[in-house]
Amino acid sequence: MKRLDGKSALITGSARGIGRGFAEAYVREGATVAIADINLAAAEETALAIGDAAYAVRLDVTQQDSIDAAIETVVSKTGKLDILINNAALFDAAETVDITRESYEKLYSVNVAGTLFTLQAAAEQMIKQGHGGKIINMASQAGRRGESLVLVYCSTKAAVISITQSAGLNLIKHGINVNAIAPGVVDGEHWAHVDAMFGKLEDKLPGQKKAEVEAGVPAGRFAVPADLTGMAIFLASSESDYILSQTYNVDGGQWMS
Ligand SMILES: NC(=O)c1ccc[n+]([C@@H]2O[C@H](COP(=O)([O-])OP(=O)(O)OC[C@H]3O[C@@H](n4cnc5c(N)ncnc54)[C@H](O)[C@@H]3O)[C@@H](O)[C@H]2O)c1
Repeated sequence: MKRLDGKSALITGSARGIGRGFAEAYVREGATVAIADINLAAAEETALAIGDAAYAVRLDVTQQDSIDAAIETVVSKTGKLDILINNAALFDAAETVDITRESYEKLYSVNVAGTLFTLQAAAEQMIKQGHGGKIINMASQAGRRGESLVLVYCSTKAAVISITQSAGLNLIKHGINVNAIAPGVVDGEHWAHVDAMFGKLEDKLPGQKKAEVEAGVPAGRFAVPADLTGMAIFLASSESDYILSQTYNVDGGQWMS
């Protein structure tokens, strides 16, 4: 018996990176997974690579009609929704005096409003089903403390930690567990983009920021998505039924709380 046998999951932003790693792991554990991403072509490629238990869904978490349609698709394909991972997010970096309203609004609409309203729509569906459910939000070590050039992103991830606490307390009466994972630094396309951004802001060579950050990780290396899948499976399984409103650091020892 696998730990997620027969479960229906929706993972936002899972066409690549950490979300894709979660989708692969959930399918290995017996779940059917909606690869829900704003980039439908990439989601389709990912679903095809994972196999029959994965399917692509176009989802823009900033649009309520898109969220509702994605959940309807999951229910029409699998008859239910058991697990949501709120994984889609955007990153930006700037000097405090250079932060634009455009960047603020973009990051808050994906990372905060996207997380909240996808969680809400999933919870409504789970309450209707009457068998509880599991919701996992992707926070970050960035939500645990500020960073000089990362004010907006850090504050969105602090908001995700807070959303997780309140929603977890409110939804447990329906048997819905809401928890979060706070990764440290995870290798992938995202970090190539971050390295390039810091390169410009701090006048660094390509790869230099990444190497400096890696040197500060107590575990001695960046994570890969597979380092996070154990926690994501645990939080989606019945083994975590008594756990709610928590944010777990999976970060190679970067933050202790
Ligand atoms: N990579 C890291 O070092 C790291 C560290 C801490 C936390 N995290 C968090 O983990 C999660 C995944 O990170 P990642 O590195 O895999 O990111 P990524 O940038 O590689 O992937 C994000 C995915 O989200 C999708 N997306 C973007 N906007 C969307 C929208 N409006 N609607 C739906 N999908 C959208 C993108 O198309 C992409 O496939 C994020 O919440 C991120 O903040 C990442």
